[in-house]
Amino acid sequence: MRDLTSRHVWIDGALQPADARHLSAFDRGFQLGDGVFETLRARGGRPTELGEHLERLRRSAHGLDIELDAGTEARIADGIAALLAADGLAGPDGDASIRITVSRGAIMARGLLPQERATPTIVIQAWPVPAPPANHLERGLHLAVSSVRRDPENPLSALKTTSRADYVFARLEARRAGADDALFLTIDGHLSEATSANVFLVRAAGAGGATPELATPALGCAILPGTTRTWLLGWAATVGLTPVEGWLTAADLAGADEAFLCSSVAGILPVTRFDGRPIGAGVPGPWTLRARDAREAFIREPA
Ligand SMILES: Cc1ncc(COP(=O)(O)O)c(C=O)c1O
Repeated sequence: MRDLTSRHVWIDGALQPADARHLSAFDRGFQLGDGVFETLRARGGRPTELGEHLERLRRSAHGLDIELDAGTEARIADGIAALLAADGLAGPDGDASIRITVSRGAIMARGLLPQERATPTIVIQAWPVPAPPANHLERGLHLAVSSVRRDPENPLSALKTTSRADYVFARLEARRAGADDALFLTIDGHLSEATSANVFLVRAAGAGGATPELATPALGCAILPGTTRTWLLGWAATVGLTPVEGWLTAADLAGADEAFLCSSVAGILPVTRFDGRPIGAGVPGPWTLRARDAREAFIREPA
């Protein structure tokens, strides 16, 4: 059995043993979820779409007025390289998931409003990527609707903050419902996203359309603008699918021919049941599996 644990953690420029004590109890990330993060994959020591992730990290930090120095991106890139090497994940077969977490830093005074500028805490972690459980690829994921609704006007939806209690709550709900993941709807009943992934549907073309559609909730549907989502919208056009970003409903999902979730780390995973009912034929669909293979090939050998 492969060891799937982390051996080191990179904190503010230094590698430390993963199981040491690391952060101040006054760190606002710990106290308030006052921070932002990114998760990404690295194959053969090469992080996938690192530029896109660092750009989103800076955007998320900016949204919370967490100021990052000009050299932050370069330091993080160096930190990732050092960590992958130290954990034996930089070789040609290395397949790692990476998490970059940036909190506002430690502030000794209490209160929500930061009264002083702290030095942001930057943490990088890495883990070997396990093969997805066979039932995720062969059986597909079962989704349950979360009771947590998403507000399209909430500016935080598009920021990847470390305040994730809603998402943890939704995952726990899904587990209680016997599902693999939860799907958020907006307050007006449109599809939003899953707890750590964007959602896509494949459906036959509408009237007059010649090619099937690859449809996903629009950016205004309280979603994180996923890097894999962007990649998929570009890929669709190259394989004869019409990319569509729109306001989709639970009925659209229930009536789709295929559905899948996508994220940087898990890649593309088929969804075969939604609130207890099968989607399409109830098995992973051919477009889903093709998209998964194409994305994994891209991660191995970026174009
Ligand atoms: C809530 C949420 N939506 C979507 C995604 C997918 O984003 P990406 O493709 O950039 O990994 C994630 C990724 O972790 C996420 O947490």
